[in-house]
Amino acid sequence: MIFLTRRVFPVCLLLVLSSALGLANEKKGFTEDFIHNYDKQDFTAQVNLVKANKNIIGETINILTRQALAENVGVDEKMHLLNIASSMAYMHFHWNGDNRPLDSLDKIISVELKKEQARLDTLLQGQKSERMLGNFVMGRHEKAMQEQDLSMVLYPHWLHRIMFECKVCHNSIFKMQRWSNNISQEDIVKGKQCGVCHNGKMAFSATENCQRCHLAGRPEAEQLHKPSSVSQEKIKKAAEKIGAKWRPENLPDGKLPLDRFQFIDWLELKRRNVFTPIVSLDKNYKDETRDNKILFKAKSNFVNDVLFDHKVHADWIKCSSCHPAIFTEKLGSNNIKMMDMHKGRYCGYCHSKVSFAFADCKRCHKDSNNHPPDTVLIRPRQ
Ligand code: HEC
Ligand code: HEC
Ligand code: HEC
Ligand code: HEC
Ligand code: HEC
Ligand code: HEC
Repeated sequence: MIFLTRRVFPVCLLLVLSSALGLANEKKGFTEDFIHNYDKQDFTAQVNLVKANKNIIGETINILTRQALAENVGVDEKMHLLNIASSMAYMHFHWNGDNRPLDSLDKIISVELKKEQARLDTLLQGQKSERMLGNFVMGRHEKAMQEQDLSMVLYPHWLHRIMFECKVCHNSIFKMQRWSNNISQEDIVKGKQCGVCHNGKMAFSATENCQRCHLAGRPEAEQLHKPSSVSQEKIKKAAEKIGAKWRPENLPDGKLPLDRFQFIDWLELKRRNVFTPIVSLDKNYKDETRDNKILFKAKSNFVNDVLFDHKVHADWIKCSSCHPAIFTEKLGSNNIKMMDMHKGRYCGYCHSKVSFAFADCKRCHKDSNNHPPDTVLIRPRQ
């Protein structure tokens, strides 16, 4: 769910979008205002808007969904429309108490995501588990790439995490949601998006080296799928060039530590002092963190409590990436349920996507009911 992340939505696209939808004026006005607030991250206005338009939200969501599922709509536009609809539905549930649109939409989105996954799996010949490492295939302009005989783009999210903290990219260069940045070659060449770095100075230029990015499904992509075949020297050089650090000599057997689910164990890398990413591209940037832990008392006896380490998260991630977009920042104010997390909300915004998987229950549910130290805030039970 992207609903509260900042997005830059070009006005022209907005007009095309709403006229193409053929919305009746009232719904069109509402859709436009909704997207406007969503771009501006204006939460106060959004709450009022969603409450005031209670009666037309259901139908507006239906229209957006129909448009998203129309035959000639590409994956990216589809996901984008479904994201907007999902955000509307979620707020409608949150503030108007009606969960019906959200329930039906969640089913649709899950079907569409499965279809996309299946399509990519065939394309990449079943390299599903390797992609769990954090590789994204970008193929929004698939046709235009085919015309130039280029493969789709493989974006190695994990490799960039070694060199840059999340703060460098989210949410300034990229919104923290797939398919929500309208990434295109044209913008990259202008020095935006990937082009902020891939300009021949900080990283290889995007006006040449086409196949270094357009490599999904090609044999050269192997080195970005298999941690064992990654060239440590290459990473070390790239990191050094930008002022980050990669110390392969601190790796236990020269290999990246993986968890049971083939996911890179980032905290093990950190403990072993293997990497030091840079915090910002801006020399005047003032870093911020929050050093406490929050104890989620489990509602059920079957699982242990969850201890959320603010510092582990805020060292890497900007406060504004989480607050208020994913969590309102008042202790105990978010009613977090596993069901919602599986749908990509709350902790599920990152976990199982770019961070360790939900299947790893014990990494979160590990705290038995011992007396916690003073630095731990105990969440009131909901
Ligand atoms: C060098 C830039 C960069 C860095 C550093 C980076 N990301 Fe990303 N991230 C991206 C891009 C690009 C996307 C895909 C956006 C798109 O498809 O429009 C993305 C997507 C995501 C998503 C969405 C995943 C999904 O399935 O929807 C999450 C969550 C995310 N990043 C979290 C993080 C976290 C947490 C960190 C740090 C641990 C991080 N990112 C570091 C560039 C970066
Ligand atoms: C914050 C800066 C930054 C951004 C933004 C960024 N990159 Fe990178 N990227 C780097 C650096 C630095 C390297 C390693 C440098 C090198 O090898 O020249 C790298 C390496 C890569 C590699 C590895 C290629 C190889 O041959 O080793 C790929 C692929 C890649 N980037 C694609 C992308 C794409 C696609 C985007 C946009 C979605 C993007 N990057 C955005 C900085 C960035
Ligand atoms: C730093 C990585 C990177 C490099 C290098 C790169 N591209 Fe791309 N390119 C992208 C990304 C990311 C997209 C958008 C992916 C999508 O459609 O989802 C893209 C999209 C495209 C498209 C689709 C149309 C469009 O405007 O988006 C074409 C055509 C294209 N690139 C051509 C090239 C050519 C030709 C080169 C070499 C001169 C090149 N690219 C080098 C990352 C790169
Ligand atoms: C990965 C997401 C994430 C990041 C990043 C994050 N927080 Fe939080 N924060 C949370 C969660 C989860 C809670 C607990 C909410 C609840 O109890 O419902 C919380 C609670 C809070 C609270 C209330 C409890 C307390 O600690 O006093 C404050 C204040 C807060 N955050 C401030 C910040 C600040 C300031 C930053 C940046 C330095 C930050 N947070 C970064 C997830 C995050
Ligand atoms: C914005 C992204 C994001 C969100 C939201 C998020 N996390 Fe994380 N979390 C991370 C990243 C990044 C790490 C570092 C490890 C990794 O990437 O696998 C991490 C690590 C952890 C760890 C391991 C830390 C340790 O002390 O061993 C736990 C436990 C954890 N998260 C729990 C949670 C819980 C519980 C929530 C929801 C209340 C949550 N996270 C929400 C990104 C996120
Ligand atoms: C990324 C961290 C994380 C992971 C991984 C995780 N959980 Fe949770 N889980 C939470 C949080 C946070 C809560 C909410 C605690 C609360 O407020 O009661 C929760 C709540 C629960 C609850 C209470 C009922 C509910 O739905 O809220 C159960 C049962 C549960 N988890 C089971 C599991 C199982 C089984 C797994 C592994 C398959 C798992 N969890 C993996 C973070 C996690």
